[in-house]
Amino acid sequence: MRKLTYFIACSIDGFIGDPSGDATAMLAFVDEEYLAFLKGEYPETLPTHGRRALGLGDLENKRFDTIIQGRASYDLALKEGVTSPYAHMREYVASRTLTESPDPNVEIIGDRLVDKVRELKAEDGDLGIYLCGGSQIAGELLDEIDELVIKTYPIVYGTGMPMFGSDFAVTEFTLGEVRTFGNGAVVRTYSRKR
Ligand SMILES: NC(=O)c1ccc[n+]([C@@H]2O[C@H](COP(=O)([O-])OP(=O)(O)OC[C@H]3O[C@@H](n4cnc5c(N)ncnc54)[C@H](OP(=O)(O)O)[C@@H]3O)[C@@H](O)[C@H]2O)c1
Repeated sequence: MRKLTYFIACSIDGFIGDPSGDATAMLAFVDEEYLAFLKGEYPETLPTHGRRALGLGDLENKRFDTIIQGRASYDLALKEGVTSPYAHMREYVASRTLTESPDPNVEIIGDRLVDKVRELKAEDGDLGIYLCGGSQIAGELLDEIDELVIKTYPIVYGTGMPMFGSDFAVTEFTLGEVRTFGNGAVVRTYSRKR
């Protein structure tokens, strides 16, 4: 059984972006120390085009070999002309409006989202599934999430896009690793309480 991990950046007050979802203010925290952490421990979460821009070249996947995004999150790459933003993994995009995939590496999940995620989790393999977001798809998949990796940056948004676009319900997680960084970022790992 493979894990579904929601690996997400947020403000201190738990928003993953401004009210429109824009998360660019958080990029300011990707400094040398933090980038070394991402590169060393979560290299696959760096988009393929971002790696090239940083001159990082090929990096081996360490935690994930599959990524799931909602269509609104995938649109950010499409708008830049990038059809396969995570070409080093199998890419799935949830969408009921994208009928045809813009890229051979990207598979559209049109319906049966939860069933498809359960199929992927049931596959054999050492590496897990990276749930990239955004809010809506994370809310719909909350019951399937096995692990949270929450990258909290030292900023308050006041309001914004919530981590989970879901109805109120209490779901318990157990705190695992906590990493702190010189720039004030904190990365906490939680596993679902069974
Ligand atoms: N801070 C971070 O680390 C981080 C990470 C990722 C994203 N984000 C931000 O999140 C924002 C986008 O989040 P969002 O909540 O607006 O949208 P989203 O979750 O990325 O995508 C929503 C879309 O996914 C599709 N979808 C949702 N549920 C589905 C289902 N059950 N079956 C099939 N398709 C389904 C629909 O696409 P269709 O409309 O095509 O049907 C829906 O409009 C972006 O602005 C991005 O910046 C932040």
